[in-house]
Amino acid sequence: MTRATVEGIAQHVGNEVTLLGWLFAKRSSGKIHFLQVRDGTGTIQCVMVKAQVSPEEFEAADRCPQESSVAVTGTVRQDARSANGYEIDVKSYRTVSASEPYPISPKEHGTAFLMEHRHLWLRSRRQHAILRVRASIIRAIRDYFDDRGFLLVDTPILTPAACEGTTTLFELDYFGEKAYLTQSGQLYNEATAAAFGKVYAFGPTFRAEKSKTRRHLMEFWMVEPEMAFCDLWQNMEVAEDFLAYVVGRVLDERRFELTTLERDIKPLEAVQKPFPRLHYEEAVKILRANGSDIPDGDDFGGDDETILTKQFDRPIIVHHYPSAVKAFYMKQDAEDPKYCMSMDLLAPEGYGEIIGGGQREEDLGVLQAAIAAHKLPMEAFGWYLDLRRYGSVPHSGFGLGVERTVAWICGLPHIRETIPFPRMLEKITP
Ligand code: 4AD
Ligand code: MG
Repeated sequence: MTRATVEGIAQHVGNEVTLLGWLFAKRSSGKIHFLQVRDGTGTIQCVMVKAQVSPEEFEAADRCPQESSVAVTGTVRQDARSANGYEIDVKSYRTVSASEPYPISPKEHGTAFLMEHRHLWLRSRRQHAILRVRASIIRAIRDYFDDRGFLLVDTPILTPAACEGTTTLFELDYFGEKAYLTQSGQLYNEATAAAFGKVYAFGPTFRAEKSKTRRHLMEFWMVEPEMAFCDLWQNMEVAEDFLAYVVGRVLDERRFELTTLERDIKPLEAVQKPFPRLHYEEAVKILRANGSDIPDGDDFGGDDETILTKQFDRPIIVHHYPSAVKAFYMKQDAEDPKYCMSMDLLAPEGYGEIIGGGQREEDLGVLQAAIAAHKLPMEAFGWYLDLRRYGSVPHSGFGLGVERTVAWICGLPHIRETIPFPRMLEKITP
């Protein structure tokens, strides 16, 4: 028996192969069954002619419900009319395990229903397309940094202190001490950047976000490069070069999936550097000219980002946000300490922030004052302050959220479909 996959079927034309998979759909003319078999790599039509198999096999296929697991043996034939260009003429057939009535039928289901059946919903064409794009994005991310001298470092998941503010911490008991799930690997990355120069961390991060939005998850994946001897402007250059590379890779590798998702690829093709760069104050002016009533010095909300990004045909970078709306570690702008050396990269088409980062405060005294001003426990940051004592250098980095990037590249209205099992407000099953 030669086992084949749908993805690799072209190399078996004219030969007999066995395909192991699940019955995706079926239609029958009485004398011929047309079985759509899905094996995880794709779907193929298997043509079962009554006269060419045993009566038992023909009958077994007839009775077989949707999503049963099946083993099909037959000859591969090229067929221009079929969706993927090939079909299998069935010689023998076996139901491995007959499915109970499958809850997800071709009819339209509500999102709540589909989310409850997420473990089964993953079998659909749409979810296949999204998760394949996700896998390509992740591989492109790794390749980008691996090929450019960044060392992969793994930062801890269990941490004693907050990186991104204390309001979104998941707290847990660490042998009688308080600990938290990490919000970001950045602080540890600053230590590894001082050790290795250019580093990146890539792992799950956690935020107890107490509001329901289309862009927030409780658990999401973030890639975080950090570079020693790097200022804000160099950091922006890396961010835009990196993002243009990732989008280019998806366009090269995942056209079929983007078509399945009916994604208009013109806006993706427009993702070419340089990206427009706006000082926070310029961004506020544009917002007000377009109907936003954002008060002076406020952070942008999701709606503001939507208005702003709709004014441009490609991603934009907003820099120098007010220090008051950003984290304690941001370097102050020497010319106007009201602002900090931060940057957010906002995706077009209304998607908004997918990257947050900036230049870090490298001065010991200024950093201590910032920790105090943010009412953070100084003792938890002893090791972090050491980095400013022993060979402090200008350094910068950023974090890209994988799920927001998947949502934008796939053109999805909500972040929930970008990860196999999303963790959302008050929802942890399946
Ligand atoms: O802007 P954030 O909070 O930045 C940091 O965590 C920095 N410490 C990163 C760094 O400089 N190394 O988060 C970075 C990105 C956001 O731009 C967004 O894409 C994503 O992480 N993100 C979320 N994605 C999904 N759900 C959430 N709740 C997210 N919070 C942030
Ligand atoms: Mg941010």
